[in-house]
Amino acid sequence: MTAPAIVLIGPMGAGKSSIGKKLARVLGTTFTDSDALVVRDHGPIERLFAEHGEERFRELERLAVAEALARGGVVALGGGAVLHPDTRSDVASHRVVLLTVSEQTIASRLAGTTRPLLQGEDPVKRWREVAEGRRELYEQLADARFDTSTGRIQDIVDAIAAWA
Ligand code: S3P
Repeated sequence: MTAPAIVLIGPMGAGKSSIGKKLARVLGTTFTDSDALVVRDHGPIERLFAEHGEERFRELERLAVAEALARGGVVALGGGAVLHPDTRSDVASHRVVLLTVSEQTIASRLAGTTRPLLQGEDPVKRWREVAEGRRELYEQLADARFDTSTGRIQDIVDAIAAWA
């Protein structure tokens, strides 16, 4: 069997992609972002949501997640990827890291976001609702948890690398 991947999960804006990229560099392995694979194959996520809806996005995301996990190394999943039952059972055989972020910190990270699920008058309120709704799923899957609200990104990366 190939080595398990290190899979970063967590809500939008938790830092999965930026931390994942640096973590892969520290560990000397590859980095794959499920959102980036969806965009590579199907174009911008905003357009997919607008033209085909969330359900179709989730199907395409599921295929991207399977490809990303097969590559191994460090893998960042889109915040909602864990909604898919096949993804939940697949990640169980990998090493799952939950990245969390406080509501105080998220406001600045979400400024100007184009994420389809956060459009509207109050993106932070929307973020809270979405994150709350998934908290249980994230917790059930996590082998380790790191909060990204404070501290230098490199320190967080080093802490995850030490755990890995
Ligand atoms: C989503 C998170 C996004 C992206 C899409 C839907 C979600 O990824 O997959 O906008 O449902 O939480 P990030 O978690 O990288 O922002």
